[in-house]
Amino acid sequence: MVQRISLIPVEERLRAIADAGYNTFLLKTKDVFLDMLTDSGVNAMSDNQFAGMMKADDAYAGSMTFYELAEAVEEVLGYKYVMNTHQGRAAEHLLTKVFAKPGDVVPTNYHFTTTKAHIELAGAACLEIYYDEALKTESTNPFKGNMDPDKLRNVIEKYGKEKVAFVRMEATTNLIGGQPFSMANLRQIRRICDEHGIILVLDGSLVCENGYLIRQREKGYEDKTVGEIVRETCGLADLYYMSGRKNTSVRGGLIATNNKALFEKIRPWLPVYEGFYTYGGMSMREIGAMAVGIKEMVDPAVAGCAVEQVKYFVGRLVETGIPVVTPPGGLACHLDAMKFLPHVPQSQYPAGSLSAALYMSSGIRSMERGTVSMDRDREGKEVLADVELTRIAVPRRVYTVSHIEYAVDRISWLYKHRDLVKGLKFVYEPPVLRFFDGRLEPIDDWGKGLSEAFKREIGDC
Ligand code: F0G
Repeated sequence: MVQRISLIPVEERLRAIADAGYNTFLLKTKDVFLDMLTDSGVNAMSDNQFAGMMKADDAYAGSMTFYELAEAVEEVLGYKYVMNTHQGRAAEHLLTKVFAKPGDVVPTNYHFTTTKAHIELAGAACLEIYYDEALKTESTNPFKGNMDPDKLRNVIEKYGKEKVAFVRMEATTNLIGGQPFSMANLRQIRRICDEHGIILVLDGSLVCENGYLIRQREKGYEDKTVGEIVRETCGLADLYYMSGRKNTSVRGGLIATNNKALFEKIRPWLPVYEGFYTYGGMSMREIGAMAVGIKEMVDPAVAGCAVEQVKYFVGRLVETGIPVVTPPGGLACHLDAMKFLPHVPQSQYPAGSLSAALYMSSGIRSMERGTVSMDRDREGKEVLADVELTRIAVPRRVYTVSHIEYAVDRISWLYKHRDLVKGLKFVYEPPVLRFFDGRLEPIDDWGKGLSEAFKREIGDC
């Protein structure tokens, strides 16, 4: 469907961001022009997905719609066993509850916020096992999402294989710029897990983008279809889970596997935390849309939709001299806030400031992916993020090139006025996942100066 959006005048944007505690999560959509906060649950669904919703069999138990989904999962991902969860983080909750004990470690190619929270709530530690290149925001390395196999071997040796709850590979590492891993790398990691009898978990929330980028960037895959690459990727994991909110464009999640023993360890907990086995906390209508979405997500027009727009977006910003994560990945364009605002120390949350400043200068809602998105450690000390990114997501089948051109224009204006932007400080900080609900204030009330400059040079809107 389409929806009316409006661009409110700059003074109102200043008021809205102040009311939201300089946290873009707390803005109301009536005050947002282009909502580029996330690609989660906000992709446009297809006609056939809506039809799938209308036809759903709405039973508490034994719904035929669930069995349609199970068939689609087997056909597309190659897994025989599947259960739904209400979204991706619920799958993470079940996996860590069943497989992670206090004192364990979970090596990952890069953490995601909710994954790390669940690993830590289970008493385990999340270890980042990337190549050093992964944190270079400007790079030509096609696979910054690869896990470093030597570092993984060292971790197994240091902690002992019995302490490794599982190894987790995230298909396109969300927090460092949606960067893919290669099939060759996944095979190496699989081999190491096999040598030590360790479970390999794949977070496939963006498995299709990863597959699409493998097709473009990895030798030997140029003639394979995205569907074939996705199946091959899935075939290398013991356990698969995903946020269905991204690739399948619905609101839900799932866990799938071919390993019956692993599946049966998780299954008893499903009705305790999520819902009965054939709905797992999702509405049957969403499962109906998911059954269609799973099949459609490997279509290159769907799998490549965000990737190609992100590539265009990043290309335009590079041309304009704006510091941005390269190479472009899946899901979003990421501004490098430490280079954009070099005068703002990391302890004053440059990515948070940039996100708020971008809203003020454009009405575009982006997301802070830096130190605000890191929770404090067990002693209450601030943990500085590896990178400070302002993520401007490109939900699938929602925006056009002209929206992206608008964003490029306003980001360029902001870059010229970057000296007006200063840091932030917390005034309310929740104990976990503070980025969702935390409230901040601008140091030296910089929002006012920025909005006055905007009004002087551009006008209200
Ligand atoms: N794993 C990855 C890689 C994700 O990107 C997300 C969510 C999750 C797990 C959790 O899934 O939201 O369905 O519970 N990412 C969203 C984002 C929130 O904006 O990037 P969920």
